[in-house]
Amino acid sequence: MRVPFVDLSLRFATYRQAFHAALDSILDHGQCILGPEVEQFETAIANFCSSRHAIAVANGTDALVLSLKASGIEAGDEVITTPMSYLASTSSIVLAGATPVFADVGGDLNLDPDAVEAAITPRTKAILLVHLAGNPAQVDRLADLARRYRLSLLEDCAQAVGATYEGQTVGTFGDFGAVSLHPLKNLGTLGDAGVILTNHDGMAGWLRVARNHGHSSRDQCEFWSINSRLDSLHAAFLIEMLSDLPNFLVERRKQAARYQEGLAGWVGFPSVAATAKPTFNMFMILVERREDLQRHLYHHGIETRIHYPLLIPNMKAAAGIRRPNSLKKAESYSSSILSLPMGIHLSNEQIDFTIEQIVEYCNKANPKAESFRMAHS
Ligand SMILES: Cc1ncc(COP(=O)(O)O)c(C=O)c1O
Repeated sequence: MRVPFVDLSLRFATYRQAFHAALDSILDHGQCILGPEVEQFETAIANFCSSRHAIAVANGTDALVLSLKASGIEAGDEVITTPMSYLASTSSIVLAGATPVFADVGGDLNLDPDAVEAAITPRTKAILLVHLAGNPAQVDRLADLARRYRLSLLEDCAQAVGATYEGQTVGTFGDFGAVSLHPLKNLGTLGDAGVILTNHDGMAGWLRVARNHGHSSRDQCEFWSINSRLDSLHAAFLIEMLSDLPNFLVERRKQAARYQEGLAGWVGFPSVAATAKPTFNMFMILVERREDLQRHLYHHGIETRIHYPLLIPNMKAAAGIRRPNSLKKAESYSSSILSLPMGIHLSNEQIDFTIEQIVEYCNKANPKAESFRMAHS
């Protein structure tokens, strides 16, 4: 049996007709960029996330950079963030001209609010949290810290669109929620796209100007800015996919529950807050000697991935970033994470086969799995 990690062609096949119709419609009206579909998508996703505004941009990284700039972040300002993420949550801080300060993570693999508080200095201007793999960070505690210390709070929801915490959609707890709509995300188009969620009326207006070269009208420029406009075609595709997102998330949560039940006691899982509903953009387990398990699964036709082999502070690009805080937990977890295949391309039989192979491996080759689980989860 083969168990592919991902197969987007199967996912997109569901939308083939609708996507062709969307293309026809854009060929008819000819507004390729920031056309009517973009506004329709912005309204739809703002409603879906219960956000006052949604501003579509070219990708998730721009969503972060523009959100940081909208927060008034300037050179010399510090932004506290997680070392355990895709690199764009840190690169965006540098690209916005500020200094990233890494704080350690907790058992949910997200920023630990105590570590964040200990990392605050007079130069701290913002907290940029990530809901890793779609598992909501402790947004209530982090929002409370931001309020108490008068910091901006930015949520990187690249992997978490549709996740909720205490019934509220992530991306609406802080000042800005930045969403990536890259093909591998749960809401992903056929190319690059992103969106910014915000409840600030003024900032929403500023972001609309900022995503379009700073144009306030065809001939006037208010300030120098980037081109981060969304194509109408992507917006049209995203409208289709968004209407189906709740079902899509239900399926992912069912697959996650199947893994969790089958693997309980054999491997560890990132902790999930009692009031959180993750989206499982990746399904992560924590296991000792994960490269050995990965090899075992590969020999049985099961593809896995490591998110992420390197902590961001250990990347070459981060050589100049100071590391004043202990990142002990992040270092420890990052050598244990393995992401398992998940998605509508998989049958229950393929999930069960993957579970069987992991249990067989842990049983024979990794008798410490149980003690690892106890120590970390
Ligand atoms: C956590 C996180 N932040 C930011 C990004 C950047 O998004 P994009 O690739 O759309 O620029 C990604 C995308 O992989 C991500 O996973």
